[in-house]
Amino acid sequence: MVRITNIAVFAASFSAASASCLSGTRLAARAADGTVAISTFNYTGEGGPLNWYGLNTTTNSACSKGKNQSPIDIVTQSIKYASASSLNFSVPAVPSAKFENLGTNVEVVINGSLVTSNFTYQLAQFHFHTPSEHRINEEYFPMEAHFVYETSAGNIAVVAFVFQLSQFGFSTPLFDSVFAHLDDIATPGTFTETGPLDFTGLIKHFNTHGIYYYSGSLTTPPCSENVAWYISTEPLPLNVQTYNAVKKVVKFNARYTQNTLGRDNLLEVSAAELQ
Ligand SMILES: *[C@@H]1O[C@H](CO)[C@@H](O)[C@H](O)[C@H]1NC(C)=O
Ligand SMILES: *[C@@H]1O[C@H](CO)[C@@H](O)[C@H](O)[C@H]1NC(C)=O
Ligand SMILES: *[C@@H]1O[C@H](CO)[C@@H](O)[C@H](O)[C@H]1NC(C)=O
Ligand SMILES: *[C@@H]1O[C@H](CO)[C@@H](O)[C@H](O)[C@H]1NC(C)=O
Ligand SMILES: *[C@@H]1O[C@H](CO)[C@@H](O)[C@H](O)[C@H]1NC(C)=O
Ligand SMILES: [Zn+2]
Repeated sequence: MVRITNIAVFAASFSAASASCLSGTRLAARAADGTVAISTFNYTGEGGPLNWYGLNTTTNSACSKGKNQSPIDIVTQSIKYASASSLNFSVPAVPSAKFENLGTNVEVVINGSLVTSNFTYQLAQFHFHTPSEHRINEEYFPMEAHFVYETSAGNIAVVAFVFQLSQFGFSTPLFDSVFAHLDDIATPGTFTETGPLDFTGLIKHFNTHGIYYYSGSLTTPPCSENVAWYISTEPLPLNVQTYNAVKKVVKFNARYTQNTLGRDNLLEVSAAELQ
């Protein structure tokens, strides 16, 4: 276990994606001395999602007023699908990568790219939510991984995977290599190094199954919109031991399901009812 003592060099090139769950490498989350400052938002009481707007009514306006907020319940009959052949999800293998605990999340800082018909994005980090943030036909999942991308112009995309507990004890080797070092960073504000990470299997999984696509938002403050979501339709396997270990450190970090895309923000609906 090591205290974080240096600001990630490439954090400077990430702005919005860096300021949230979708966040991670954000400069804003790091104090001047380079130690991790625990997020001002969380998932409990007045720090939680019902009051994220109240934490900063200027920057977090979209959290209470946005009409295309994430996560959503994905209705498989009506959601759009992206074709894998129109996307290039690429993360080079690395001997190790920085793995850090930001208080509301644990994330791996690594390079990679995502090419879509619209943009070429650079990977900022990937991180985990327990339970899943998205639902699929109302079903939630024990865990969800988010690969957060941004272009130099600030366009954000997220590639997401949900996990399903395996009755046979199967798991996803890439994430086993990440979580093998989870105990090292049980304390918020600490970081360690993962073992070798090989993304070949994950990329193959992404390319050989369906992909839900929609335009939504960051699921943490500032809840910025116009985020392109690409969510694999096929859950990845997760074994019970890993699931229990992850939720013990990450704890509960899923935003509640937002309204149907395009409809009034649920907080505005609720506020109007109270008038
Ligand atoms: C959540 O954030 C609020 C507001 O900053 C704080 O008062 C509260 O102690 C935090 N709760 C937890 C469990 O972190
Ligand atoms: C809201 O966030 C902005 C930008 O980070 C900051 O300048 C401002 O001081 C914050 N306001 C409050 C009330 O925290
Ligand atoms: C996908 O992107 C990677 C990294 O830029 C590149 O090496 C690879 O050739 C690309 N694959 C395709 C099919 O374009
Ligand atoms: C990402 O790539 C850049 C440019 O090659 C390099 O400077 C940087 O150290 C890399 N970051 C990580 C986390 O590997
Ligand atoms: C590409 O951009 C257009 C216009 O912003 C948008 O309607 C479309 O959904 C985007 N497609 C993808 C696959 O991101
Ligand atoms: Zn996330």
